[in-house]
Amino acid sequence: MTVKNELFLGDSKKELEKLPDNSIDLIFTSPPYADQRKNTYGGIHPDKYVEWFLPVSEQLLRVLKPTGTFVLNIKERVVKGERSTYVMELILEMKKQGWLWTEEYIWHKKNSYPGKWPNRFRDAWERLLQFNKEKKFNMYQEEVMVPMGDWAKTRLRKLSDTDKTRDESKVGSGFGKNISNWVGRDKAYPTNVLHLATECSNKKHSAAFPEGLPEWFIKLFTKEGDTVLDPFMGSGTTNIVASQMKRNTIGIEIVPEYYEMVKDQLQPEELYLLEPKPSYESDQPRRRISIR
Ligand SMILES: C[S@@+](CC[C@H](N)C(=O)[O-])C[C@H]1O[C@@H](n2cnc3c(N)ncnc32)[C@H](O)[C@@H]1O
Repeated sequence: MTVKNELFLGDSKKELEKLPDNSIDLIFTSPPYADQRKNTYGGIHPDKYVEWFLPVSEQLLRVLKPTGTFVLNIKERVVKGERSTYVMELILEMKKQGWLWTEEYIWHKKNSYPGKWPNRFRDAWERLLQFNKEKKFNMYQEEVMVPMGDWAKTRLRKLSDTDKTRDESKVGSGFGKNISNWVGRDKAYPTNVLHLATECSNKKHSAAFPEGLPEWFIKLFTKEGDTVLDPFMGSGTTNIVASQMKRNTIGIEIVPEYYEMVKDQLQPEELYLLEPKPSYESDQPRRRISIR
């Protein structure tokens, strides 16, 4: 099958205007964080972040299909000993803009380097905020199932009477569980915490994603032939992974050097032969040999 890769050089706020309404299945991106990595590509002051981002999210809302999902990787930094609140303010403003804030995933950075601070510990996680246009959206949960693990062997060996019926939540949350439903199964649904190591050191970008991160969300929210957009493309991890997963991709990047780097990696059209499905459980880096 053939997939298309469309790359734009410029400010995503303007470049997004070129895309048609309701045309994207998944937006997966990590915009520049407030005031961070100033030397690399310019930071936005935390006080100005929401104002800066809202015109972009307005365009994203327009281009996303009603069945689509927007996953925003972001983390507030510490300013003068306090966590900024701009991410929370952004969520509230995006809700006013029309977005539903559906879920929050955590990326646990398995290899965050050690350090000592007087009033906190090392930061080892980032947010992945999930936004949607509608309450019903495409989600392929079976695609990200994980092995049951040793837990099942011991926990499911001897079932109590409560385990054999639906055990309603004691705190009245309305959630209940019937443990016996899992007997004989070898796979379970994952949690909303993803454990992946960062991979920046080998890429020509200081804030590149580990490939497993977009890969997991692309599997969960799209199928082959769908379209994935990254409006802050950087080294193109989202686009390259999505293209290899037989999704059409669109990327926008403001720095010519990064744009050219991705252009060298991705053809406007890529032809993929029918191959067996790859396994996504590994968090080992693969592929992309040429930009490392
Ligand atoms: C956090 S990095 C993304 C890294 C990317 N996820 C990767 O794996 O390489 C954010 C990127 O957004 C780009 N950028 C910043 N402002 C932009 C804008 N207004 N329009 C488009 N790209 C922008 C930066 O140059 C940077 O490469």
